[in-house]
Amino acid sequence: MKNNIQLYKHGKVMATGAVVELPEAVAKASKGIDHLSYFKQTISSDEIALTYRFDEKDMVVGFGETVKGLNKRGSELVSFCADEPEHLPNKKSLYGAHNFFIILGKEITGFFIDFPGTIHYDIGFVDKDVLNIKIDGLDVDIYQFTGDSLKSVTHEFLSIIGASYVPPKWGFGYQQCRWSYETADDIRRIGKEMREANIPCDTIYLDIDYMERFKDFTTCDDKFPDFENFVSEMKDQGFRLIPIIDAGVKIEEGYDVYEEGIKENHFCVDEDGNPFVAAVWPGLVHFPDFFKEETRQWFGDKYKVLTDVGIEGFWNDMNEPAIFYTPKRLKAFYDHVEKSKEKPLDIYSFFDLKGEAESLSSSPEDYRSFYHEVEGDLVRHDKVHNLYGYFMTQSAAQGLEAIDADKRFLLFSRASYVGMHRYGGIWMGDNDSWWEHIELSMKLLPAINMCGFMYTGPDTGGFQSDASSELLIRWMQFSIFAPLLRNHAALSSRNQEPFAFEEATTETLKNIIELRYGLIPYLYSSYMKAVGERSVYAANLIMAYDDERTREIEDQLLIGESLMIAPIYKQNRTGRLVYLPEDMLLWNANGAVVDSLKVMPAGDHFVPITLAEVPLFIRPDSGIILGGVAETVEQMDATQLTFLGYMKTGIEESYYDDDGVTKAYEQNQSLETTIRVVQSENGLRALVDFDQDSELMNVKIIVMDETGQRYEGIVTREASSICLEKVSQYDN
Ligand code: GLC
Repeated sequence: MKNNIQLYKHGKVMATGAVVELPEAVAKASKGIDHLSYFKQTISSDEIALTYRFDEKDMVVGFGETVKGLNKRGSELVSFCADEPEHLPNKKSLYGAHNFFIILGKEITGFFIDFPGTIHYDIGFVDKDVLNIKIDGLDVDIYQFTGDSLKSVTHEFLSIIGASYVPPKWGFGYQQCRWSYETADDIRRIGKEMREANIPCDTIYLDIDYMERFKDFTTCDDKFPDFENFVSEMKDQGFRLIPIIDAGVKIEEGYDVYEEGIKENHFCVDEDGNPFVAAVWPGLVHFPDFFKEETRQWFGDKYKVLTDVGIEGFWNDMNEPAIFYTPKRLKAFYDHVEKSKEKPLDIYSFFDLKGEAESLSSSPEDYRSFYHEVEGDLVRHDKVHNLYGYFMTQSAAQGLEAIDADKRFLLFSRASYVGMHRYGGIWMGDNDSWWEHIELSMKLLPAINMCGFMYTGPDTGGFQSDASSELLIRWMQFSIFAPLLRNHAALSSRNQEPFAFEEATTETLKNIIELRYGLIPYLYSSYMKAVGERSVYAANLIMAYDDERTREIEDQLLIGESLMIAPIYKQNRTGRLVYLPEDMLLWNANGAVVDSLKVMPAGDHFVPITLAEVPLFIRPDSGIILGGVAETVEQMDATQLTFLGYMKTGIEESYYDDDGVTKAYEQNQSLETTIRVVQSENGLRALVDFDQDSELMNVKIIVMDETGQRYEGIVTREASSICLEKVSQYDN
């Protein structure tokens, strides 16, 4: 078979661990990048430039976490993990460095640039017809993928980087976060309010205030007395607590993590060989040198402090690493201020000082002033910057694996690089409660998935700024389709828990979150299939229907193989335009109970959607599997499911499930149920092939045919093939 992957090398790139499943034949056939004829190359003493002349209609997709839309042509991007809270349209970098992209023209060609330093992409920005890639270094591996579709090229890439991280199934439940629930009583109150409002919820987050003065792997006794009992008290109510872990280790005499780190040389060093000092939330910190195997092991083992008291999930933060300032540059700034006093009090002095102050955070100068140890050599941080968050999360994942090799822990990170997708997910970072950021999260989900990070989602409701009830509702109506469904808000922003608004809003949010739980069997099945098949969970329409029209659609997404969504992301809307590439069955869902079904022909439609409704479009000859609602994922009834399908000629769907908590899925220990609907002499017949080991006892089948006739029936283990009955829409 012809191999569609080529590897081109220049120099010797450090082992990033991004590519782990490259066919040997491809590795053997690797060539120097001078053979990479796709690009014109210019190699200077310290950088490599690659240039490509676009055809008029070429589009460029990929790049994972960016503020841009589906087609990146006309943009400038910089691959450099950045603590970038303002996701404004002019931002060139976000938290992840995802150097995978596809140029779609007469041919479809993908590239993955495995390079841990900075890469500048001018994607037809300076000259609309020219792609210019500037790699800040000489050691690089470039993988080229060719194929006949976006799907196949994405698959080739996903197939060499190793399978994506799989969270525990409860990681698909609704998750409640805020910076911060400051005390145990605050958390108790959140839990109580959620349960009293009957809103399903699986986790509550612990932001930095659970720690003692923001020290990793400590808990604050005053605010969280008897932490272990508190964790189990919340677990008894169905809530798992998810603490944050920050990259910086507080410098404080007597703090064991700090003292051990110093004693065992675990911290990054400055030019003079002393531990590098920066300031983040805890004040002055050192950064663990996650590039060293022994440091990864040391830090990873620390998670045990928290797993020992019942914690089962973590979020790793500030791991670009974010730097508020370094004492060294702050001092230089003060000197500058001192000197400025001699200058006139005019606007030039003002803007000069303002600029200097703003440049203190995450400054390139600071990133050039500390070092990692890589295979015995000291490497300047900026040269390998994009691997820091990755290696922190690898450290956590390996630590957790050592604690319990068979258990799935929840784990996600802010910073990332391809390869980290095997160890954890990512959340989309600090957005704002802006309508534009609902739209941005819709653009991010498929782009991030394409780069291997399957477990992802936004801060639903928006992190900074205040959310209105309408914004939260509309955002939730999108986020229920993201694997990571978390509501998170920043310090001093308006409370945005589902119960924090007037009653009608709480009721609407409850219905939406219930719909999420109803959808979990389908979403989880789609997720696991994507991970197993090296495809994506969420995709732009172009992935399935590559035509002129779908190339420009980025506000409708495919979730799994059977479902299309078209969320509302603008204020005061009572409906929206939806393009159907083929006829579909619309379920305008209001809660998890199936009603209000309508067959819609292919083409353009204005679909009325009230604030309470979530439109779900089911593709022809396919369907989705739905469960019943429960307080938590683990309490969901696995004995009964509902199948909702749109029948044209015949349906065959397989539904994946597993124990949801162990890694037995890696040994293919899964449960598979196949559901078929066929035409027979007496109408429609449904057949279910039950997995012997599953708890599933019956499946309620609801299908609609092209004419809008609805059919129903219940298939059981005893009667696994039945004739469906015609029902009118109003029968139930
Ligand atoms: C960072 C994180 C945010 C968190 C905050 C405080 O801004 O991105 O999610 O709430 O730090 O820890």
